[in-house]
Amino acid sequence: MALDLSTTYLGIKLANPIMPGASPLVDSLDRVKAMQDAGASAIVMHSLFEEQIDREMKAEYVHLRSHEDVFAEAANFFPESDDYALGPQEYLAHIRRIKETCKLPVIASLNGTQLGGWVEYANLIQQAGADALELNLYYLATDGAISGEEVETDVLEIVRTVKAGVKIPVAVKLSPFFSSVSHMAKEIELNGADGLVLFNRFYQPDIDLDALEVVPKLDLSSPEELRLRLRWLAILFGQVKLPMACTGGVHSAHDVVKAILAGASVVQVVSSLLKQNPAHIRTLLAGLEQWMQEKEYSSVSQMRGALSLQNCPDPAAFERANYLKILQVWKT
Ligand SMILES: Cc1cc2nc3c(=O)[nH]c(=O)nc-3n(C[C@H](O)[C@H](O)[C@H](O)COP(=O)(O)O)c2cc1C
Repeated sequence: MALDLSTTYLGIKLANPIMPGASPLVDSLDRVKAMQDAGASAIVMHSLFEEQIDREMKAEYVHLRSHEDVFAEAANFFPESDDYALGPQEYLAHIRRIKETCKLPVIASLNGTQLGGWVEYANLIQQAGADALELNLYYLATDGAISGEEVETDVLEIVRTVKAGVKIPVAVKLSPFFSSVSHMAKEIELNGADGLVLFNRFYQPDIDLDALEVVPKLDLSSPEELRLRLRWLAILFGQVKLPMACTGGVHSAHDVVKAILAGASVVQVVSSLLKQNPAHIRTLLAGLEQWMQEKEYSSVSQMRGALSLQNCPDPAAFERANYLKILQVWKT
């Protein structure tokens, strides 16, 4: 049976749903080519940080560079810190270089919480040739005086302003920590976004008991993290019309299948590529095709959302009823 793996994300027709998510993996042109050869349908660049734009260089990921021992699992693969820290001008030059040498659509990424120079940089990113832009609105509301409503208002203002400033499509990488993720997703849609990326992963600091210090800690993800994404992809599918990308916990071909069945248009992978290598994309694609053949699905679009909240045989499995059931069946 001929299989159709194509999908449309942010208005861009893609050969298949698998792409590397935002990470320094794309900082080397050779790795980008290797991912293209392995079948990646697009690439997401690591973020240009608000702090970099402000020339302060103090963003969390950048800060984490000085603690690369935490990347033990990715030891052979993790890029040198020097090529991770693309400054704003190098970032733009890198977009141009990728566009000149590769055929893949390039999704650039901006990361921050204030409007600052975003619109200007969103424009420069567009001029450099990026096909789309992902906004990562990583924000940790530590100040009890700031309400959830204020946080949401700020997010929406950034989405609106960036959208008004560029012609390329804009996706928003969301955090799962909103009182109503569904409402937030709908508002983001109403404010003009072209896609949603679920979910941002927060890196929790640890405490070093010998040094009595708080230390930054970046663990690569595990497949268990996918379930939070599956639930929200399934709940949002159909409620919002925006195409959704799944990011977080996709390690195997079956994880890819689950994300699409829940409602994802595309699946972004980072940790599993850092643990394995770019060729892992080929394994994921082969596994997706094999599963489709076994279950007699002929296209990815036929699969998308087949087990979303609105389509699955037992919607309660995604809702509160399941919480009760699952706690009651636990046996010691
Ligand atoms: C080393 C590393 C660097 C990352 N850099 C960025 C970044 O610059 N911008 C961003 O939005 N996400 C970044 N992320 C988050 C990933 O894009 C992704 O959302 C997250 O790792 C979950 O996907 P995974 O389970 O496939 O790793 C980074 C992740 C890792 C592990």
